[in-house]
Amino acid sequence: MSILEIIRSRRSVRSFSGADLRQEDAEKIMAFAAGASNPYDIPVSWFLLDAKKDGLSSPVITDTNIWIAGKMDRVSHAEEAFGFSFEKIVLFAESLGIGTTIIAGTMNRPAFEKAVSLAEGEVLPCVSPLGYPAKKMSLREIMMRKGVRADSRLNFGELFFDGQFGTALTPEKAGRLKNVFEAVRLAPSAVNKQPWRIVLCGNEAHFYEKHTKGYISGDNWDIQKIDMGIALCHFELAAEECGAAVSFKVDDPGLQISADLSYTATYMIN
Ligand SMILES: Cc1cc2nc3c(=O)[nH]c(=O)nc-3n(C[C@H](O)[C@H](O)[C@H](O)COP(=O)(O)O)c2cc1C
Repeated sequence: MSILEIIRSRRSVRSFSGADLRQEDAEKIMAFAAGASNPYDIPVSWFLLDAKKDGLSSPVITDTNIWIAGKMDRVSHAEEAFGFSFEKIVLFAESLGIGTTIIAGTMNRPAFEKAVSLAEGEVLPCVSPLGYPAKKMSLREIMMRKGVRADSRLNFGELFFDGQFGTALTPEKAGRLKNVFEAVRLAPSAVNKQPWRIVLCGNEAHFYEKHTKGYISGDNWDIQKIDMGIALCHFELAAEECGAAVSFKVDDPGLQISADLSYTATYMIN
């Protein structure tokens, strides 16, 4: 399967089949996770957790007991770095037929933090169940998906811009990068807010975060930066696949932006 096919077929899975995660699948995921780097070079430690042993639960997840959780130092850009690495793991799991849902809120967080022995100065941004999808979604899952319009995404021209904000980028204008932008468009995000915006200036793609009010917590933790890391991940993986060599930098080009936007990072495309 191509990365774009994997991205297209992935959805959050909240209802599982009840079958145990096969040992070989668990091992493959943890081996992959150990090498799931991010462009910020911030390390994340990954844990495979057993819900029964550690008393873990989520009101939205049914019929699996296995979870993956990541913890890291609470440093600048931790959110983007985590989103990038976690999404690589999510897409790898999808390629194995294993369902996931990135969860930041709807879980008993203290139990997860205890299970990974979270220390002062560390953060556990998100967790995900791992398992095989049930044939049918639970009613709660169906309602949740409706609530956040999980099957829809903003249009290409609402997310991507040509040279400056205000000038929509068309798929035609994106040329060979069309599928790279499409891969970003389809990314998952918290409450499906899709905060990523990209301005393509020549061979540079500048990423911006469009802030939704109320998403930065009192301690300055910004969950939408996790979404930005996911978007960067989709861009890089899809670019690699279409044969475009990309390199990453954080260097604000100083474009004119509205007050609800902030610069995240840039990919240079060769
Ligand atoms: C950073 C982040 C946090 C999320 N937190 C939760 C959560 O707490 N509970 C939940 O059910 N889904 C959560 N989700 C899943 C999103 O609701 C889901 O990705 C989005 O609605 C799009 O649906 P899809 O993943 O099926 O494409 C989260 C996703 C992301 C990226």
